[in-house]
Amino acid sequence: MPHDIVILGVFVADAAFRSDRLPVLGETKIATGFTLGPGGKGSNQAVAAAKAGGDVGFITRIGKDTFGQMGVQLWAAAGVSALVTQDPDHPTGAAGIFIEEGCGRNAILISPGAAGAITLADLAPHAAIIAGAKVAMTQLEQPVDVAHEFCRMARAGGAITILNPAPAAALPAGMLALCDFVTPNETEAEALTGIKVTDTNSATAAAKALLAQGVRQAAVITLGANGALLCDQGGTRHVPPIDAGRVVDTTGAGDAFNGGFACALAQGMELNAALDFATAVAAISVTRRGTAEAMPNRAEVMALLQR
Ligand code: RIB
Repeated sequence: MPHDIVILGVFVADAAFRSDRLPVLGETKIATGFTLGPGGKGSNQAVAAAKAGGDVGFITRIGKDTFGQMGVQLWAAAGVSALVTQDPDHPTGAAGIFIEEGCGRNAILISPGAAGAITLADLAPHAAIIAGAKVAMTQLEQPVDVAHEFCRMARAGGAITILNPAPAAALPAGMLALCDFVTPNETEAEALTGIKVTDTNSATAAAKALLAQGVRQAAVITLGANGALLCDQGGTRHVPPIDAGRVVDTTGAGDAFNGGFACALAQGMELNAALDFATAVAAISVTRRGTAEAMPNRAEVMALLQR
């Protein structure tokens, strides 16, 4: 069955600890809170796009285990079509997440598990869906060669392609030229360009460097609490943040933004409106704990935008 949006990526279980600070090596520290829930950037983005109103197919690989079942239940509840291989040889992965109480900032260590064993063979059964999508999006938690081929298949079919280069990794030659949009955060933009992003000027320089590396339409650098910066052939624009309430957990904010962006583009919104929509999805997500579970539904996004 065709889908407007197709996403390739990782599902893992997020083990999230809250504390006033990270323990140092050799130290044991009592956390102020813990949750175990669904995560993985690709899955989070798929859930965000579907809850925002998109028709989403999600390609991944999970283990035959409890964590994998968490993913299956999540996608069913969110209305994501699971284009999933169940791997008998690898367990579903997990992420250890540290969330700083007070500001909600996070640090993440991820073991992709079965999704780290995704190969080109996982794409083949879904070739028609990838080529027929309006929007195709991926990240870099699964092997980069598979992300590269996914972008090639989607581009050949005429989809709008989005690469969220997270976590940062060396890209094969020519990969950015397959991407209509690239959406790094500050550290990922620095890794891809060598330009340290500290303010609007440096973000602009990094975004221009990404365009010079071949990105087809625009580089969108997400700037956390400062919104985002768009750079395309028409120039550079700052996308202001939206205040949706007290920030409690920024984990998955980038995924919320990307999922919202993919949804908006698939529904034919023009670029500025799509970026505002994406910003609203992210703004609501950071007022809630968790990642996939923090994604807002469409009514909530529209209410914030109309406020
Ligand atoms: O972007 C947040 C996500 O990154 C978490 O859900 C974690 O699983 C890692 O993949």
